[in-house]
Amino acid sequence: MEERIDVPEAEIAVHWQEEKYYYPPTKFITQANLTDEEVYERFSLDKFPECFNEYAGLLDWYKHWERTLDTADAPFWGWYVGGRINASYNCVDRHLAKNKNKTAIHFVPELESEATQHITYQELYVRVSEFAALLRDFCGLKAGDRATLHMPMVPELPIAMLACARLGVIHSQVFSGFSGRACADRIVDSGSRVLITMDGYYRNGAIQDQKEKADIAAEEAAKGGHSVEKVLIWQRYPGKYLSAKPAVHGRDHIVNDLLKGYRGRRAEPVPMPAEAPLFLMYTSGTTGKPKGCQHSTGGYLAYVAGTSKYIQDIHPEDVYWCMADIGWITGHSYIVYGPLALGASTVIYEGVPTYPDAGRPWRIAEELDVNIFHTSPTAIRALRRAGPDEPNNYDYHFKHMTTVGEPIEPEVWRWYHNVVGKGEAVIVDTWWQTENGGFLCSTVPALGPMKPGSAGPGVPGIHPVIYDEDGNEIPRGSGRAGNICIRNPWPGIFQTIWGDPDRFVAQYYARYCKDQNSKDWRDWPYFAGDGAVQAPDGYYRILGRIDDVINVAGHRLGTKEIESAALTVPEVAEAAVVPVADEIKGKVPDLYVALKPGFEPSPELHKRISDAVVTEISPIARPAHVWIVPDMPKTRSGKIMRRVLAAISSGQEAGDVSTLANPEVVDELRHMVAV
Ligand code: WT7
Repeated sequence: MEERIDVPEAEIAVHWQEEKYYYPPTKFITQANLTDEEVYERFSLDKFPECFNEYAGLLDWYKHWERTLDTADAPFWGWYVGGRINASYNCVDRHLAKNKNKTAIHFVPELESEATQHITYQELYVRVSEFAALLRDFCGLKAGDRATLHMPMVPELPIAMLACARLGVIHSQVFSGFSGRACADRIVDSGSRVLITMDGYYRNGAIQDQKEKADIAAEEAAKGGHSVEKVLIWQRYPGKYLSAKPAVHGRDHIVNDLLKGYRGRRAEPVPMPAEAPLFLMYTSGTTGKPKGCQHSTGGYLAYVAGTSKYIQDIHPEDVYWCMADIGWITGHSYIVYGPLALGASTVIYEGVPTYPDAGRPWRIAEELDVNIFHTSPTAIRALRRAGPDEPNNYDYHFKHMTTVGEPIEPEVWRWYHNVVGKGEAVIVDTWWQTENGGFLCSTVPALGPMKPGSAGPGVPGIHPVIYDEDGNEIPRGSGRAGNICIRNPWPGIFQTIWGDPDRFVAQYYARYCKDQNSKDWRDWPYFAGDGAVQAPDGYYRILGRIDDVINVAGHRLGTKEIESAALTVPEVAEAAVVPVADEIKGKVPDLYVALKPGFEPSPELHKRISDAVVTEISPIARPAHVWIVPDMPKTRSGKIMRRVLAAISSGQEAGDVSTLANPEVVDELRHMVAV
């Protein structure tokens, strides 16, 4: 196993000062969905798992479940077993009777010259049903099949997701900014025969060619022995084709043309078992291979509906804007499934928050009268830097704001509260992961005071615990950091890693499992992979990943993935990636490479290595620096000392290096990086 870089983070915990509380405004409390102090008692471990029937009760079921939680195949939990449900029906059809004329989706194109689209529930119903009919009858997709989506932030993305869900087809949306090759890996792993994409979209004022990536994805998948039979291409502007790449005969189909043949068609929602997979969401881990997190239909939908109602405080009359990308779990849970299950109006913004200027989000908020806002610390830092006073220029009022994805510095939190929220909004700092489906730690907005930089206690029904390396519980208030785990399963937890159940158990449950043969959930704490410290008041402060994962601008990247990308360059012999602090993005990757004998560093080679990372993964993974080094610092057994490289990149003391096989290289590298 590689050596870990967890020491500095654990130290931060000890020196971190406690922040003072901020209290939710009375105006918020008087209208909140959850003001009942008893909720923690109602969701206590004594009431587990039946407490979660309350969340499932927010949904419409074809058949009521027989058992709330099935532990027979621990730790592969079954939620609401025996129940039948359809996610698309719950997010669309069931709202028609009373709210067909209400806006389901406000779509804001990136170009301000283009009008905002307001898609009603009736229109959503028609578009989802017709596209589902197309997927069923033209593509031959049926329940249990997988379809890969590589869609930008446009309404056709949730339409495609909900059309899949209607048929029980498992969707796997790949973040649009990922490369064609990254998409291919996910197509092959999931075994999708159909790829759904768009010709292009706007980002930072320029058209991005997305279909070009589909060609690469299909070619690369073919090299992996997997055939993509159909590529469905939506047109960003129906009737106009944006891509420079022609449609491949027999494989590519323009959705907008095909849909003409499906006018008036209604694919009925298929009643699915609660435990049927709803979607896959790939994420990074300790190896170079992304993990397909498999989420369930009933448990997932119940959990996101419940947390959207009580933690996001979404009411039917609210205008809710989560500025994340639907290509990440945040967007799946808190742009699409949660808000739509509640019949809310959800905003989808196509582009970059600071395009064309830092006032853009606040103009959108003003125009649509958004009152719930949800974003990441990286976006907050970027907006603060680009326009620290901009929010003052716009007349909008948020009652509620969310921060998610990374630790937020108290200083940044205060700007969010005072300037973006105008001192009027309650803030929830929500800690969770792709694997979790929905929030794990957060204050309940009307109940718990806010503490800048702390996520808060477990949300109702989530019971966290911090263990030390030996499995002892670290008591609250001790000032000691450890590994945060969750004692109990919950409905939103992913079911398995697609195609790799052993890795699922090894990675998430083996660490603190009390008895591998046990069928009792109490023996299987969920291991999150984050360091955390718990204050005397019970609030958790999340310190960051303890594994080989870097959180760049809220995007989760595996160091191994970036290293593998660098190794595709023929001259590269060894590669090591370490995280470096960045003012805006939180962390950025620094890449160290050693060349094979006979090769010399050059600007051209630097560029080629950096570009390889973009080609293999995405521009978001591009290293801040590529350091071509004569040798890597290594242990005598030949392991690269990433801790030493991280210290060099951050200009910190490298600590004791005397046990290295080549201690002299440390000074050489330090000199190189300092210049
Ligand atoms: C990792 C998960 C699901 C949210 C989007 C990211 C970090 C997430 C917080 C927070 C501090 C946070 C953790 C976690 N993280 N939220 N509020 N405070 N850190 O999902 O890509 O699966 O990343 O993001 O390190 O393990 P993800």
